[in-house]
Amino acid sequence: MTFSEPMFKNKELQDKVIVVTGGGSGLGKSMSEYFLALGAKVIITSRNLEKLEKTSKELKETTGGEILPVACDVRNYEEVELMLAKTLDKFGKVDCLLNNAAGNFISPTERLSSNAFDTIIDIVLKGSKNCTLAFGKHWISSKKEKATILNIVTTYAWTGSGYVVPSAAAKAGVLAMTRSLAVEWAKYGIRLNAVAPGPFPTKGAWDRLLPGELKEKFDVTKKVPLRRVGEHQELANLAAYLLSDYSAYINGEVVTIDGGEWLQGAGEFNMLEQIPKEMWDMLEMMIRAKKEKK
Ligand code: HXC
Ligand code: NAP
Repeated sequence: MTFSEPMFKNKELQDKVIVVTGGGSGLGKSMSEYFLALGAKVIITSRNLEKLEKTSKELKETTGGEILPVACDVRNYEEVELMLAKTLDKFGKVDCLLNNAAGNFISPTERLSSNAFDTIIDIVLKGSKNCTLAFGKHWISSKKEKATILNIVTTYAWTGSGYVVPSAAAKAGVLAMTRSLAVEWAKYGIRLNAVAPGPFPTKGAWDRLLPGELKEKFDVTKKVPLRRVGEHQELANLAAYLLSDYSAYINGEVVTIDGGEWLQGAGEFNMLEQIPKEMWDMLEMMIRAKKEKK
């Protein structure tokens, strides 16, 4: 097998009803496609109904699965409640929520207007809160036996990062919410986990994080010890596992899938990777020589 193959081979998500926010494009679309192939019924939501309808048609054709496109701006709680109602109307239940919708762009923080900062916080943190609260209330009041929420964050949720400060602050909030509710809502049978992807090329992210010549100027694979970017199927495999009953004992976890990227940035001496092999004999000699002189 190869890492880019589908991991589950049967209908491991048979009859699970899964809502994927931001499911019309990028990683949300790839994950939705795999969930459908595994027998799930999927609701994809975002602001752009035309895009959602196009994606639904395409995924119906590729997987033969049941998919419902619903327009919903996650920033608006009433729209989220309506999206939940449409889901229940169509499928009679909902088992999983994947908080994947996001907004982001690079900018020195001092250039941002207050509204620009709020826009990102509202999509990422308030949007995830809106969906989590609406779905959680429904599951608790309907006494559903088990339900799962998976939140897509990223590694700067705990390292922080300049130039994407609203996104970093919002993702950190989503991670804190994941861990907090994993404990508080476990008694209701609701599991919450998060996934922290490193670089996975999508048009949405690349246009906003690596515009123009930045793509050539900064080779993202050089930041990754495994020297490659992620493949969408790899993330879809992980998400399918975390939403499936196979992960029933995993709760409050954040799983990093970044080829070691954040640790390479964090390790004090990881820059020594740039030392050519043949230099190590000389360096060792120099270090040992200091000791012998004492
Ligand atoms: C400075 C900017 C800006 C920019 C927008 N604004 N772009 N400020 N630099 N490049 C300001 C606007 O002037 C406005 O402020 C405010 O932000 C809101 O902008 P709107 O265009 O009105 O907002 P909206 O139409 O809601 O669009 C939201 C958006 C847009 C985030 C700006 O890019 C979007 O729709 N994004 C959705 C998809 C996305 O971002 N995908 C990437 C996810 S990647 P004023 O003050 O003028 O009103 C990701 C990766 C994480 O999350 C980890 C990677 C490793
Ligand atoms: P993307 O294609 O731009 O996905 C973002 C999605 O969010 C879009 O479908 C967008 O659809 C939707 N969205 C934006 N604002 C919304 C709103 N207010 N209400 C509802 N939906 C909204 O980018 P992506 O790379 O696939 O990102 C998916 C997730 O992965 C995000 O959480 C991102 O932070 C995370 N991530 C990505 C990477 C990466 O390398 N790609 C790395 C780490 C984490 P509309 O515009 O139609 O609303």
